[in-house]
Amino acid sequence: MIERLQALRAAALRDLDSAATGKEIEDARVTYLGRKSEIASISKALGTLPDEERRALGKALNEFKADVTARLDAAKARVLERAAVVAGPDVTLPGRHPWVGRKHPITRTLERLEEILLGLGFEVAVGPEVEDEFHNFEALNIPADHPARDMWDTFYVDGGTLLRTHTSPVQIRVMQSTKPPIRIVAPGRVYRNENPDASHGSEFYQLEGLYVDRDVRFGELKGVLTRFLRELLGQDVTIRFRPGFFPFTEPSTEVDVRCRICGGGGCSVCKGTGWVELLGAGMVDPRVFRAVGYDPDAVSGYAFGLGVDRICMMLTGTDDIRLFMENDLRFLRKV
Ligand code: DAH
Repeated sequence: MIERLQALRAAALRDLDSAATGKEIEDARVTYLGRKSEIASISKALGTLPDEERRALGKALNEFKADVTARLDAAKARVLERAAVVAGPDVTLPGRHPWVGRKHPITRTLERLEEILLGLGFEVAVGPEVEDEFHNFEALNIPADHPARDMWDTFYVDGGTLLRTHTSPVQIRVMQSTKPPIRIVAPGRVYRNENPDASHGSEFYQLEGLYVDRDVRFGELKGVLTRFLRELLGQDVTIRFRPGFFPFTEPSTEVDVRCRICGGGGCSVCKGTGWVELLGAGMVDPRVFRAVGYDPDAVSGYAFGLGVDRICMMLTGTDDIRLFMENDLRFLRKV
């Protein structure tokens, strides 16, 4: 019996060493260790043997099982390893999604606005976000203690220094440093000391426009703004010029467009009115020209200021202006 075991052991080890597939290994296991194997019947016969023989055979059986099992594991590892080398990485597994960074929707909107306005002959100008009262208010015909100041809730830094409440002070700075003709747009961040809600942020973006030359007419303002809004929002956009009031323009107008989100039926972006106010504009007030040392009888001009965030809301279908400042990636990845 012991001799028979040795012969079986040699055969098992030889088969396992030459096995090249999982199936061959499994066949060898069934042949040499399975329930119907010769080993199984030898084990069964063990009980019928006299003590001494039983002990010797039991020991030989245990050795057989240990040796063959160890060789079986080695054969499995070898076959698996070779399969991995042959197959390489499993390209059918779903990959990990790499997020690619991109520009903030406000940046994209500003770039689009500049692109259109540069095409209409404007140049880009910039001014400081920390301003003084002269540029932010007085030169724009908003004297101290004048009720018109209530239109702009202001964050004061100290005494006469403040965070600009609009981009209009850039008009003043450009006119102070250049002679007409002037044709600029000034994009930038502005600040208001207000409680933010879905359509008002305490920080947001405006884009100012200013054109000064001889004999500039209101009709040119209307024409340029119409052309600009059509290019921005589509040729079929419906535009409405309403009379308005700003201390630095006379006459003044507020410009609305039919809400693109709901098509005019009413939604949260247009607050049910069907219209979104995008712009303030008008002919530059003679007092503004005087404040920068221009002769109001020699030059005339128009100005406009538009709410960049409002436009971004229209372009992206966003109904809460605060999302643009929160930098929540779940929002930014979608717009
Ligand atoms: N500065 C105004 C505001 O923040 C917007 C504005 C209105 C700008 C009329 C202009 C303008 O240049 O002509 O409410």
